[in-house]
Amino acid sequence: MLIKIPSASGCNESDVTPESIYLSRRSLLGASVAGLAVSAMPSWVQAAESSQYAGVETGNAPAWLKGKLQSTQWQAVTVKDEAITPFKDATHYNNFYEFGTDKGDPAQNAGSLQTEPWSVVIDGEVGKPGRYALEDFMKPYQLEERIYRLRCVEAWSMVIPWLGFPISDLLKQVEPTSKAKYIRFETLQDPKTMPGQRSGFALIDWPYVEGLRLDEAMNPLAIMAVGMYGRELPNQNGAPLRLVVPWKYGFKSVKSIVRISLVSEQPKTTWQSIAANEYGFYANVNPTVDHPRWTQAHERRLPSGLFSPNIRQTEMFNGYGEQVSALYTGMDLRKNY
Ligand code: MTE
Repeated sequence: MLIKIPSASGCNESDVTPESIYLSRRSLLGASVAGLAVSAMPSWVQAAESSQYAGVETGNAPAWLKGKLQSTQWQAVTVKDEAITPFKDATHYNNFYEFGTDKGDPAQNAGSLQTEPWSVVIDGEVGKPGRYALEDFMKPYQLEERIYRLRCVEAWSMVIPWLGFPISDLLKQVEPTSKAKYIRFETLQDPKTMPGQRSGFALIDWPYVEGLRLDEAMNPLAIMAVGMYGRELPNQNGAPLRLVVPWKYGFKSVKSIVRISLVSEQPKTTWQSIAANEYGFYANVNPTVDHPRWTQAHERRLPSGLFSPNIRQTEMFNGYGEQVSALYTGMDLRKNY
């Protein structure tokens, strides 16, 4: 991935929604979603097409998502003392190489992505394989809002309010067999609507592929997202369905997913295939293991500009060590980067 010189952001501090509550892992795990339904529905959800966040572009949520917004558990997980990144930055500074390699390309080009109808294939080592229309695929899941840090391997970061559901809920539905050890995710491949896939210069062997070990996928922090900032995902952020794994570098969070496979071998992932010495399978955020070409000790939190670069220390596991470090007990994280 390329590092670009930061340009001044067009967003003001006043666009930023202030800090909200923080729930520990215990409360995350123990949080009861029952009873939160209509009674807890914030007024801005009732007022269709609005959002609790400032500066959010009105979306056009599909009917199945509108229904789910009403029973969403808002702020199920959040961060303490860190401002949420303005919507404008989160949706105009993107990596989605299917739509170009500049940070502004996805916002400019992803309008061509057709997200309805959308289907998801479940296959491999599962008891319930099949191809599901997205609205059917989504039926069993209760949505939660998860406000997470997002740390890109390129050393910039954001704080984003996602809407999604735990991958562990998905795994319960698809019934992995005893041979399933990893979960593999694949992005849509459609050169007609994805200009980056038509480019002769692309380094990527499409489709974009990512994967997790099964116990990583079972961790309560790992989610499948269908929305952000109280609305559906904008196309440039990976509509209609993407992965979000907040303790790993952003490239693990694969966008616009069409296929989910349970597999027995570690899947070959996109960035690992391009440069295995730079991008590993694990890709855990780790300030003590530098990228061969730059330090990972600190990061630039958006919005950032020339005169207010907004640099902060990077935290081990992106600040989620308490919840995830046990997954890597006994592993050398310098080798398994
Ligand atoms: N998924 C696909 N299919 N294609 C991509 O180029 N880029 C990844 C990840 N998912 C990418 C992708 C990278 S490098 C990052 S940092 C995040 O998406 C960025 O997510 P965002 O644009 O929503 O901030």
